[in-house]
Amino acid sequence: MPNFARTFRKSPWRRDPSPTSLGDRLVRFRDPLHAHETLAPFPAYVIPPVPTSEPAATRTGLSEPRFADVSGRRVVMIETNVGDSLYATGEVAGPLLRNATRIRGHNTDCYGYNSRSRTLYQSHPWVLGVHAGGSAFGVILETTYAFEIDLRAGIVLACDGPSPGVVVIERDRPEEVLGVLAELTGTMPMPPLWALGYQQCRWSYEPDEQVRQIAREFRTRRIPCDVIWMDIDYMRGFRCFTFDPEKFPNPAKLSDDLHAQGFRGVWMIDPGIKVDADYSVYSLGRDSDHFIKARDGGEYQGSVWPGPCAFPDFTKSRTRAWWGDLYKDFIAHGIDGVWNDMNEPAIFDGPGKSMRDDARHDADAELGGPDAHARYHNIYGMQMVRATREGITRASPENRPFVLTRSNFLGGHRYAATWTGDNTSNWEHLRLSIPMALNLGLSGQPFVGPDIGGFDGNADATLFARWMGIGALLPFARGHSIKTSVAHEPWSFGEECEGVCRLALRRRYRLMAYLYTLFREASRTGLPIVRPVFFADPRDPSLRTIDHAFLLGRDVLVVADVNPPGVRAAPAGKPGGVLAAWREFDVVDACAELPKLYIRPGAIVPIGPDVQHTGEILAAGKGTTSAERTLLVAPDETGAARGVCYDDAGDGFGYQRGEYAVTEYVFEAGKVTSRVIEGSIKLPVEPGVVTMVL
Ligand code: GLC
Repeated sequence: MPNFARTFRKSPWRRDPSPTSLGDRLVRFRDPLHAHETLAPFPAYVIPPVPTSEPAATRTGLSEPRFADVSGRRVVMIETNVGDSLYATGEVAGPLLRNATRIRGHNTDCYGYNSRSRTLYQSHPWVLGVHAGGSAFGVILETTYAFEIDLRAGIVLACDGPSPGVVVIERDRPEEVLGVLAELTGTMPMPPLWALGYQQCRWSYEPDEQVRQIAREFRTRRIPCDVIWMDIDYMRGFRCFTFDPEKFPNPAKLSDDLHAQGFRGVWMIDPGIKVDADYSVYSLGRDSDHFIKARDGGEYQGSVWPGPCAFPDFTKSRTRAWWGDLYKDFIAHGIDGVWNDMNEPAIFDGPGKSMRDDARHDADAELGGPDAHARYHNIYGMQMVRATREGITRASPENRPFVLTRSNFLGGHRYAATWTGDNTSNWEHLRLSIPMALNLGLSGQPFVGPDIGGFDGNADATLFARWMGIGALLPFARGHSIKTSVAHEPWSFGEECEGVCRLALRRRYRLMAYLYTLFREASRTGLPIVRPVFFADPRDPSLRTIDHAFLLGRDVLVVADVNPPGVRAAPAGKPGGVLAAWREFDVVDACAELPKLYIRPGAIVPIGPDVQHTGEILAAGKGTTSAERTLLVAPDETGAARGVCYDDAGDGFGYQRGEYAVTEYVFEAGKVTSRVIEGSIKLPVEPGVVTMVL
């Protein structure tokens, strides 16, 4: 058992002697009626908050939570003040600002969702608040049961299970609140560099020859891309860990062919295991008692793609180990990453397309012990990707794992990146892409993006190009579409659209060093990669509600036009306040269809070479230190600027042993100096640095 009190004392917040940043502003509140009960384990945490029985008076004017009976159920109420802005609440379709909204956290396969949907694929019982003066707070509802967050009058929280603990964090700035959340729930491990590249998916590229064809097309047309995805049709009758003998007879050869052209392959694995006595994953799983039980003690079965399925009980470490080991032979086919889908779990013939609440889990004590599915539903996907990540790490210990998940829970960013599920090819969903990514980032999940172009339905040239422009600047950049849609590749909508997509993706690759530095920051501090514009000045009320623009890290502002041609809806254009002074720049040819980019005065942003995939960066330099680096310098009013760039091998775990470098660039008196301020790798080739002063 780790000594949490000690670990916590070592943390930066505890070490800081300033009375305004001590743990007295992180308090767990208990329901007085249940205060004597032991709190259930809450798997979101890597370090639980130090329990405190004495709620400190809040400094920023937030009221103490009140527990009350409302319509026969215990609810927690926190009054907010006029001018408080509320955010986060996980994966939500709708505006960035969450005031006046209401959601239910119950992981659901919500194909066809829209901004009126109250329940999506993943759940984060977490609210971030910003007071009028810019100080901030966060609230965690410590439950794994389905829950409600009602922000129509203050903050009202309720859950379907026993009365939970409520943790309130208060800090001077929103970034600091996210830092505490990261301390409690952990941070995203560094992904391999290739996972930051553009990724192309479709349900499904089949047979294998079409996968090769798509890959060739990218290279011939000189559209940058790193990854091609294999959706369910590669499997033999939707049996996970198998390959269709006709359509995908030689997956290892396919992987080799992809690798030879500088591509990686990510392949789908779902949790539903086809009930088929001749299928070894099923029969071994059944014989070794790995599947969830029905209430009567028999195997729980429900229909997914292959028909009736059984579902591994990922709440048991024994089952997670078994599941993880299944990846050994699988990834031996040269598979680079894994996509876990349908892991809410989605069950076509279950109640609300889900699993029955009374199914039985034989959970480990660590998670709370044997109990009904109602208790573990929201963490099912999270425990699945925990097993997947651990399994592929064991099978390929030299490489950083990459896992994508559809379902997840607060803290699940430790195991997998995520996307915003089955969106639709229309302008509403293009608009939703930005606030959805932002609110997930504010909920601890930095590695996120939408299906670019929209999953369901057909995009057209204008919509697709616009979406690529925005999606290429979000952390996870993947184009994906449903089986029935028209082709959704960057070249599918004519030359003009193809040209915009090429520029959009070249931009992403030229910004790769900056993006990688932001991933590293997220993996250390929990700060999101894309941030709401109010992060530039949390005191400015005019920046609190902006949905069409976002900050890429601290130094780059992205302003998108999310309206169809001919429509000019407010608010559009560049945000004001401190952002008025930010200077426009670009790293590719000017293009009116792409979002506008601005740099913060005082910043230096590293720009890399034009490449077709990240392997070219690694081949040309030492690790991610490309042979060529341009520094974009935006002097502030004193004529100075500063920036940092993070470099490492781009994969593997050497960076955890100090094999990395953080280089600081300082611009003063008209010239740039650089020095390595962190890490032990020497950069023998000081990249050919070109300075561009804006
Ligand atoms: C689900 C996924 C989608 C995938 C499809 C087939 O709908 O959300 O991305 O293409 O299943 O596997």
